[in-house]
This record gives sequence, structure tokens and C-alpha cells, in this order.
Amino acid sequence: MMRDRTVLLGVTGSIAAYKAVDLASRLAQDGAKVDVVMTNCATEFVTPLTFRSITHCQVVTDMFAASEEHDIEHIALAERADVVVIAPATANIMAKLAVGIADDMLCCATLATKAPIILAPAMNVHMWEKAITQENLTKLRARGFKIVEPSYGALACGEVGKGRLADVEDILTAIRQILDRKSDLIGKHVIVTAGGTQEPIDPVRLICNRSSGKMGYALAEAARERGAKVTLITAPTTLPPPADVEMIEVQTALQMREAVLRTVPEADALIMAAAVADYRPATAAKSKLKKEEFPLMQLELIRNPDIISEVRGNLIKVGFAAESENVVGNATVKLKNKGLHLIVANNIAEAGSGFGVDTNKVILVDSKGKVEDLPLLPKSEVAHKILDKVSALLSPAIGASG
Ligand code: C5P
Repeated sequence: MMRDRTVLLGVTGSIAAYKAVDLASRLAQDGAKVDVVMTNCATEFVTPLTFRSITHCQVVTDMFAASEEHDIEHIALAERADVVVIAPATANIMAKLAVGIADDMLCCATLATKAPIILAPAMNVHMWEKAITQENLTKLRARGFKIVEPSYGALACGEVGKGRLADVEDILTAIRQILDRKSDLIGKHVIVTAGGTQEPIDPVRLICNRSSGKMGYALAEAARERGAKVTLITAPTTLPPPADVEMIEVQTALQMREAVLRTVPEADALIMAAAVADYRPATAAKSKLKKEEFPLMQLELIRNPDIISEVRGNLIKVGFAAESENVVGNATVKLKNKGLHLIVANNIAEAGSGFGVDTNKVILVDSKGKVEDLPLLPKSEVAHKILDKVSALLSPAIGASG
């Protein structure tokens, strides 16, 4: 996968710069062409010669010397990169990229490139936790930068906390995932629902569930990466909005139903990852209920409509089934009752799976009865596995032969 691909490796001034040597070496061993761009500060930690010896490519450090000496300039670097990886990425480069500063070779090339950009931050724990760094991170994520988060451990400054450069293996995985990206959903419109709906009792209280929205957001991001136009209909979550995705924010099941039914006529696929509340209070009080007036509170709950069952039309419908027993059996019944093409079943009792966590262990069941039991995977990878199925269902000829 790396062979004949060009990775632009940006190295900035952190003690973790020495780990970028290992990363460059692994990339070169895998057959990638590695252009290295170092900031001035990075050259204080590691010499350009080290990278040159490993990659057998030019190492660029100076904006102006570069074009004269090596016939390399930031536009050429930016254009030939299949992926840009900045590892380690300091708080400084994150701040510069967040506002579009272009005052050195790395910033210029990163600004000029159309390739996907991965950042692997490394810094002191307090710098990492500082509100401005986190704001910059949110901004960069929203602009489509992929972040390989730092890990927790002993830091060079003597402290212990989050800030260590991620493992080289994790950075390589992120690079491989991007280089392996498919573009099979170009021209398709995918609607994803996410999060747990909230059903108001009064202006202060509500009924909600444990869904974090992570699976739905991962699906929206993955579909966009594969070229789809994506509409994300989301109940409240704490997650940053994915880049280049149309967001429709809703709170209740009824609002989600309205948004889904309004948007599906244009769509090729609907993926209902949302945890829609099965019941809502029959009436939501207009003013706050006073506990003194209700020594015994009894709520009357009525059933919410089943949104995905109401969706008609020539589109692919994917549902989720969170089960705690007879997972495949129960999911298959749901698939049939709701008229779905595919159902993503998970056993919420299993460790590392289901609500709130970054991983999921799912079983895919399709309308022909085919069952695929996937291993425990990051939600981003589960999303791509689901989209592989959606893509095949959208192109039946290819799906049938595959
Ligand atoms: O019936 P159950 O809630 O287990 O079904 C889960 C699937 O159905 C999910 O895909 C969910 O988004 C969808 N659903 C729905 N409307 C509801 C309840 C669930 O579309 N009211």
C-alpha cells in the first residue's frame, strides 16, 4: 500500500523528534517515498542528515535555500504528497495551522496541500490541556485534520500525564488507513443519525439514554472520507462536528423523525445509528415541576414512532440493534420487521463494546441472512466495514460478484 506513495513527514521541535526517525525508517522500509520537512527548532533535536540517511531523499529545512539547492519548493512538496504527517506536532504548529499562518516551509506546504493531513501532537501535559490548545485542536479536527492523540505517561519534563507522542505503530495505522481510503461513495448522498434523543419532562428535566453518538459520528466521517455527501442528523452529543458534513441538530425523537422524513427523498442510504427513545412523556410541562407539589411523581409515557420503519423509497436502510442476549436472532427479527437491508448488532454486555467507548464489537446481518461477526475494532474501522456493505448494496453488480 505504501509503495510508490509519497508521505510528506513534517517534524517540529519536540524532544519526541527522535521518534520521527523511527517513523521515517518504517515508512521507507514499507516502500514509501518520504519527503521530510523540519522546522528550525526540530533541527536542534535531530539533524537533517539523520533523516536523509534513512529516507535517501532530500530533507528541507529552509524555505529559501530549498528551492535553489534542491529544486524543491513548498508547492511541489504539497502537490506530490499523498498524505502529510506532522509528527511530533508541537502546540506551536497546531496554533499556526489553526489560523493559517505560513511563515516557514512546513506551514506553507501544509497550507498548500490538498492531501489529507495527520497530526500526532507531543508536548507537556499542561500545554496539551490548556484551553487554547484544545480550542485549536477542535478547530483543526473540524477542518478535517486527522489527530493521532498523544498518550499518557512519563514526559521529558519530568511530569506524568497526557502528552507523549503516540506509538509509531498507531501513527503508521492512521497513515495506512488514509492511503487505503476508498472513494466508492462519490456522487452518493448518505444520511446518518447519531446520539440519543432527549425527551423533555419539563424545561429542566428529560429522559435520555447512554448513547454517546460516537458510532454515528464515525460513520458520518467515514462516508465523507469515501466521497459521499453526508447529512448528519444528530441528537445532542459532546462530540466535535465532523468536517464537511451537513449537520441537522435535533433533540427529540419526533424532531429526528421530521428531519429524517424531510431529507430521505434525496438520499441513497440511511444509516440509523441513533438511539431513539422508545417512549416520551405524554405531555412536557411548560414550567418547572415543583417537587413540593408532587410527593409521588408519576409519568405517563407514550410510544415514539419507529422512524426507520416509516421510511419508504428506493434507498438502502441500515439499522442498529443493541442486544444483551440472542444477538443475531433478535437482530434478524428487527431487520425483517423494520424492512432493512442491513442491521448492525452488538452485544452491549461485552467489554469494550457499545455505549460511550471508542471501540465496538458488532455482527453484521443482511437481508439475505448473511452473518459477519467482526472482531473488536475502533469505531472508525467498524464504520468503514459497514460502509463496505452499503457500497456493495448500492452497486449490486459489483456486490454480487464480490
Ligand atoms: O427497536 P430498536 O430500538 O432496537 O431498533 C433499533 C434501530 O431502529 C436503530 O437503528 C434505531 O435508530 C432505529 N429506531 C428508529 N425509531 C425508533 C426506535 C429505533 O428508527 N423509534
